[in-house]
Amino acid sequence: MKLWAGRFQKELDQKTNDFNSSIAFDSRMAREDIQGSMAHAAMLGACGIIAQEESEKLCAGLQEILADLEAGRLAINPEAEDIHTFVEGELTRRLGDTGKRLHTARSRNDQVALDLRCHLKAECAGLRRQLVGLVRVLGEKALAHCADVMPGYTHLQRAQPITFGHHLLAYAEMFRRDAGRLDDAVRRMDVMPLGSCALAGTTYPLDRELTARLLGFSAVTQNSLDGVADRDFCVELAAAIALAMVHLSRFSEEIILWCSWEFKFVELDDAFSTGSSIMPQKKNPDIAELVRGKSGRAIGDLTALLTMLKGLPLAYNKDMQEDKEAIFDAVDTLKACLTAFCPMVETMRVLPENLRAAAAKGFINATDCADYLVGKGVPFRDAYKATGALVAQCIREGCTLETLPLDAYRAQHPAFGEDVYAAISLENCVERRTVLGGPAPANVKAQAERTLQWAAEQEGTA
Ligand code: ARG
Repeated sequence: MKLWAGRFQKELDQKTNDFNSSIAFDSRMAREDIQGSMAHAAMLGACGIIAQEESEKLCAGLQEILADLEAGRLAINPEAEDIHTFVEGELTRRLGDTGKRLHTARSRNDQVALDLRCHLKAECAGLRRQLVGLVRVLGEKALAHCADVMPGYTHLQRAQPITFGHHLLAYAEMFRRDAGRLDDAVRRMDVMPLGSCALAGTTYPLDRELTARLLGFSAVTQNSLDGVADRDFCVELAAAIALAMVHLSRFSEEIILWCSWEFKFVELDDAFSTGSSIMPQKKNPDIAELVRGKSGRAIGDLTALLTMLKGLPLAYNKDMQEDKEAIFDAVDTLKACLTAFCPMVETMRVLPENLRAAAAKGFINATDCADYLVGKGVPFRDAYKATGALVAQCIREGCTLETLPLDAYRAQHPAFGEDVYAAISLENCVERRTVLGGPAPANVKAQAERTLQWAAEQEGTA
């Protein structure tokens, strides 16, 4: 029997009921729905809107339903229209008329707006923990490889020398900002909408601040239409998740390249790689590829939410039921990706000799060679030109700047001296890049330690 059976002559068509129902996906908010109802019932009692005794009965009944659900003694009825209807129906089945008082001064519109906020706040805490865990892993790996020279790239062309630790810490910075973006989203989500009711508030003298306090919210919504009609908090979270997924995707792309025989900078642990059904030699970075692929879902979820909202008049519209599958998918996608990605990176074997060998090719010390001449008083443009000619000569002769004889240097520019070889040694080139934020091993070590310190503070282990 539907909630609105009084107004209607017929039951809803079965297939239409299935189409209309959200129980298949909103039952994951059962706990938050029950806790929200308990706070509402307690507030109704405290305000004298229902008898104190009935308020207590409602809370006890709801508590039992929660316990029964969590212990598997109560199954959610898949025929119910949504989780709100199911819980209220079950309560009334257990408490009779008292159960029917729960929905006083409330609508499913403010109820769902509440449940979703509570549920996503909890999910954000879990995602944040996972991101911090990844940052910690990156800090540890960066510390271990703070002095391993590798080529830094632009346009995927070898450009200038950096260290592997420096490269990893770039991602650590991104994931730290992603954690910050989750915090920002939670801050604006942390506003309690109950009391907005269907759209126009209520004539009952509710104490909304009390409900907010009972549920651990920092504030209450200030406009009843806004309280039930916006899902900007889902959009903000989906955007934060999509961006975290894009960061994971870029990192995955690099890991995939690094695993190839063309690079061979790293090797993934067998536990995080797969083989081929036909090619016996293959070891594939499937996990990284799947993470890269799944970033598309998260971007799709964000797009779905924005598109769902864009034409909606105030206040609630049923279109908004579509918010849950999109945001839950985004949450679950990031959660699953981090669960697989973090140990994959943690167990990834770095091959420093291959990093160093790649750094030796590609003239990545050419800028340093030009800077050497600048140090001898040559204007940068002239130094750049002379070095360019030296590189061209090396390419013609199949040698490197390190192996080119001093005569060849001097023929290009008389300011070159024996000390040029020290100036262009890759180790020196990296060590001297001590500018704040630069890749010198000492910088990377200090930055890795600061990163680990941050992670420890977030994890409460500092
Ligand atoms: N299942 C609905 C949703 O997710 C709950 C709110 C229903 N409200 C309504 N007026 N039909 O949006």
